[in-house]
Amino acid sequence: MEIIHVSAECYPVAKVGGLGDVVGALPKYQNKLGHIAKVVMPAYDTRFMHENEFEVVYDGWGKLGFQDFTVRIFREKTNKLGFDLYLVHIANFTDRPQVYGYADDTERFLAFQIAILDWIAQWQHLPDVVHCHDHHTGLIPFMMSNCLRYRFLRAVPTVLTIHNAQYQGQFGWDKLNYIPAFDTWKSGQLDWKGSINPLAAAIKCSWRISTVSPSYLDEISFKANGLEDLLAQERGKSFGILNGIDNEVWNPAKDPMLSKKFTIKTVEKGKSANKDALCRVFNLDPTKPLFTFIGRLVGEKGADLLPDIFYNALHQSPGAINILVLGSGDPQVEGQLMHLKETFPDYYNAYIGYNEQLSHQIYAGADFLLMPSRVEPCGLNQLYALRYGTIPIVRRIGGLKDTVVDIGDGGFGICHDQTSVWDVGHAIGRAYEYFQDTKRIKEIRKMMMQIDHSWDKAAQEYIDLYQM
Ligand code: ADP
Ligand code: GLC
Repeated sequence: MEIIHVSAECYPVAKVGGLGDVVGALPKYQNKLGHIAKVVMPAYDTRFMHENEFEVVYDGWGKLGFQDFTVRIFREKTNKLGFDLYLVHIANFTDRPQVYGYADDTERFLAFQIAILDWIAQWQHLPDVVHCHDHHTGLIPFMMSNCLRYRFLRAVPTVLTIHNAQYQGQFGWDKLNYIPAFDTWKSGQLDWKGSINPLAAAIKCSWRISTVSPSYLDEISFKANGLEDLLAQERGKSFGILNGIDNEVWNPAKDPMLSKKFTIKTVEKGKSANKDALCRVFNLDPTKPLFTFIGRLVGEKGADLLPDIFYNALHQSPGAINILVLGSGDPQVEGQLMHLKETFPDYYNAYIGYNEQLSHQIYAGADFLLMPSRVEPCGLNQLYALRYGTIPIVRRIGGLKDTVVDIGDGGFGICHDQTSVWDVGHAIGRAYEYFQDTKRIKEIRKMMMQIDHSWDKAAQEYIDLYQM
């Protein structure tokens, strides 16, 4: 099968969160199964563009309402990611350093989607499936099935993967003229509650929908930022497929970003060397358990509660534990997390910003990883933690519920029911108690590291979905 993945992110080209990890790995595993999976994404002004070699495969121009734009599509020459990578360069739209966060993101991603379809529409053959990821690519299924200029693509099946239904990309009807001509009576397919809603349009128009975990599929009929009814209605064509991880990138035995590599056999020594190195850099005490949080500092992740959770934990039992945070997001939370450094200089530290290498070092060196998420469609952090022998402390929700079994139930993690200061505080208390039992911690680490969350299984599940 020839599969075209269309996405705003793809690791290591451009990554903001888990979407980048998924799109950087799933196609590679699909290729290993004998398929031809390709990735098409915007050509941002990132290091990857400057450090690699490309050939031009398409030169053209497109139209966004009354505005013309020029398009150049590059293919990475060496197939270094394990799949064909196409980067769509649109002058003044894609060529910026950040993936998201510009006032004209609507225009940027719409021009991107139009450029891709203009390109595919002039191929000599049709791909077997176009697989769209999240709202940035959500108008593709609508345009493929309705726009007159793409009528040759009508027979090509489309799949939407919902990585996160909180973000939908809505914009006003005044921008309707951006979308290439279609029969106007079909415009209802674009609408949700009075706006053009790319995620809603994709839910309506895609041939199949997947969510990134089975539990998230159940949850979105009740909690999906206003799309609950629509998702409940389209449940018949929706499937929950649990994300995998790229076992080659996330492999403690070979990870070049670690201070010391380790295997399941050498996990105790390996983790302790990585922990020592981290504690030296961040002025923490390696003899105490090290708790960490890695991620976007936003409400979905429960990040607003972290300052109180950490203050309580460090204040109630001074010197008993260490905490290290890596993240960025809400400026107020960032400020509070920075401020805690002054209150607990010897047991707490925070790195505000994005740092891929540091994230690997923390998964390897920490003892416990906190994920008190309010919404977690899958979550990859807990899967990386498991692979690096770090015990996850998670709220029972979405993909966290599907991947972490509590130690009390014979499992390897610590689970709590609510995103609350009390619940997380209690979970930290349990973790502290377990940590005193060195033998048990060793057994749990070994148990976690044996779990196989690689993409092998899920890559096939997606193929089965396309076959439908
Ligand atoms: P989400 O996509 O909702 O942010 P996931 O758990 O699916 O959550 O994936 C988050 C990914 O982003 C992981 O690879 C995690 O290690 C990484 N990440 C998040 N914040 C940072 C950061 N500040 N520095 C480095 N990596 C980060
Ligand atoms: C989203 C979700 C996260 C998921 C990731 C990859 O960003 O918030 O839970 O793991 O996508 O699918």
